[in-house]
Amino acid sequence: MRTQVAIIGAGPAGMLLAHLLRRADVDAVVLETRSQEYVASRIRAGILEQSSVDLLTSAGLGDRLRAEGFPHRGIYLQWPGERHHLDFVDLIGRSVWVYGQTEVQKDLVNANTASVVYEVSDVQVHNVDSSAPYVTYLDAEGRPGRIDASAIAGCDGSFGPSRAVVPASVATTWERTYPYSWLGILADVAPSTDELIYAWHPHGFALHSMRSPSVSRLYLQVPNGTSAGDWSDQRIWDELATRLGHGQDGWKLTPGPVTDKSVLPMRSFVQTPMRYGRLFLAGDAAHIVPPTGAKGLNLAIADVALLAPALTALLRNNDPALADRYGDDASRRVWRCTHFSWWMTTMLHIGDDPFDAQLQLSQLRWVTGSEAGAAGLAENYAGLPIGF
Ligand code: FAD
Ligand code: DHB
Repeated sequence: MRTQVAIIGAGPAGMLLAHLLRRADVDAVVLETRSQEYVASRIRAGILEQSSVDLLTSAGLGDRLRAEGFPHRGIYLQWPGERHHLDFVDLIGRSVWVYGQTEVQKDLVNANTASVVYEVSDVQVHNVDSSAPYVTYLDAEGRPGRIDASAIAGCDGSFGPSRAVVPASVATTWERTYPYSWLGILADVAPSTDELIYAWHPHGFALHSMRSPSVSRLYLQVPNGTSAGDWSDQRIWDELATRLGHGQDGWKLTPGPVTDKSVLPMRSFVQTPMRYGRLFLAGDAAHIVPPTGAKGLNLAIADVALLAPALTALLRNNDPALADRYGDDASRRVWRCTHFSWWMTTMLHIGDDPFDAQLQLSQLRWVTGSEAGAAGLAENYAGLPIGF
């Protein structure tokens, strides 16, 4: 089979890239190891920056988002005895939307613009340092397949093979692991809050998020190595109530049936360059952020917003300028989001050093008490413009 761009991975980065390329009359084929149902039902991120919403809207993917998503003006930051609202719209004139990654994925599948081969295995990338790269794989029945392309997009997430194709002599990686994880639940209960609550608490961080007026998403900081089975639903709700301040100033956390429970490790990782020959990396294939601050999905969308026009100019007009700049342009935002996610994570999670705890509280008081501090958080959380 021959196409212009072979895309590895049908997550949000790969599917959005295929969609944007199709709209620019560039052919692409997407290879995905999992089934369509599995990819569409993975519960992950839930917050879209304004620039992600604008990009999806301009790409014709905004109808359901605007009808069923929820614009939010800001967040609450709290610690025992205090809760403060940061109004991003007042502070910086931009904000965020609550719209699940599962919904973004459904919109991309329903657009029917991507040609996807699901349930492949043994995907291998060849000859990316030539102008005739290709990908080999086995299809769902185990039959060998080959896609010849002019460019290959590695959108295969944190465990895919693409990033390892960049030779070790060329690649640089940076990594930070954190000494805690998140236990996340999805629950069939109306959110107990109008805006997300990020809570510092001596027992550990807690986050109250949501997906809709009848579905809540909540997280607890737990030690690494925790298994979701160690936590009964009752224990989770009791701990959430403590950390989120049930009873504080009359606020109540309403529990409900838990429909999903999982543990997420926390890691920062960046690999550069994001382009090697005819291979272009985008999304989690090139960088991973801890979830605090909700940057992972938005960063994948921002990469693709740069990569689609770069590949279009390269393959339709033989103009390499944007493709040559892709890695540097994308990395600027990657490092900004890597810093912000690290900063939010280290400000809100409890370690074993009481000195750190005092610094965290001092930082929280400054961020909530100073307009300059609040605006800095707001500017990063609501997201910088694409191309920053
Ligand atoms: P992915 O969504 O990982 O997609 C990569 C795709 O490539 C997958 O479909 C995978 O099956 C496929 N693939 C892998 N290997 C191969 C191969 N060899 N061949 C073909 N296909 C392959 N971010 C937030 O901002 N907030 C959150 O709350 C949040 N929660 C998360 C929870 C979990 C459990 C995880 C794993 C991530 C979470 N993230 C969150 C991060 C966010 O979901 C990711 O940043 C986002 O999915 C990145 O999109 P992507 O397309 O780059 O990668
Ligand atoms: C969600 C996840 C986050 O990491 C975050 O900072 C905010 C919201 C969520 O899944 O809803």
